[in-house]
Amino acid sequence: RALVAPHGPWRRLELCAETGSTNADVAEAARTGEPEGLVVVAERQTVGRGRRGRVWQSPPRAGIATSVLLRPGEAVPERDWSPVPTTGYGWLPLLAGVALVEAVTRLAELDARLKWPNDLLLGDAKCAGVLAETVPGGTLAQPSAVVLGVGLNVTLRADELPENPTGLPATSLQLAGAAATDRDPLLRALLRAIADWYDRWRSARGDAVASGLREAYLAVCGTVGRPVRVLLPAGDEVTGTATGIDADGQLLVDTGRGERSLAAGDVLHLR
Ligand code: BTN
Repeated sequence: RALVAPHGPWRRLELCAETGSTNADVAEAARTGEPEGLVVVAERQTVGRGRRGRVWQSPPRAGIATSVLLRPGEAVPERDWSPVPTTGYGWLPLLAGVALVEAVTRLAELDARLKWPNDLLLGDAKCAGVLAETVPGGTLAQPSAVVLGVGLNVTLRADELPENPTGLPATSLQLAGAAATDRDPLLRALLRAIADWYDRWRSARGDAVASGLREAYLAVCGTVGRPVRVLLPAGDEVTGTATGIDADGQLLVDTGRGERSLAAGDVLHLR
């Protein structure tokens, strides 16, 4: 049974009952020259990785844990795709976030929003996250690869929800009252949505504005327009109103004493 119809860049699907981390598996494959389009799906991860060094916990078979391998720095002459410069790669995690919202909205029929950069929120609770990791390439001929990992809580019960160190409550599609909680169709919709956006983005040479990606992101982003506190990777924080997303995918925050553009951080929505 084909879980994933051949579509877009996906060319090889590996399903595993248990692994440490699908992101680690795909990164390892990238290091040994695996071409674009590998998809790894695990029923259970023993050391799932979250953003900023955190762990991603999910009970077996209650969620989706998948990672895909993209090589945006390579030319694809058949598609007329030229290489995207690494400076444009910052949009890939946001691209995965938009795809997640599309899949969940369509199949689960829930109102999903993104907390910048790519936490999927149902109401005020987190239901999914994205971890993008770059695997450095050695040469011009073999540029960096990107591993995009998505974790989605599907049927977790209230007593199974992980605790988030930043205090953000967690939820699952089932707890939030989803219309459908079958994992296969959700996974297919997610992979298809990532493939479709990747196609548009690459056809526009990684330009998020020209491809419509930035607009699509803004349409589902629940952070822009809100008062926020952002904990920066260095440990300090910025408080203000989120006013937009720039052409590089950075969050713009009006602090009252000027505008900051933030490349990374943990956002707390204040209202
Ligand atoms: C986050 O919100 O902190 C990101 C969570 C990303 C979790 C997914 S599950 C599949 C893939 N493999 C990993 O080890 N992590 C990502």
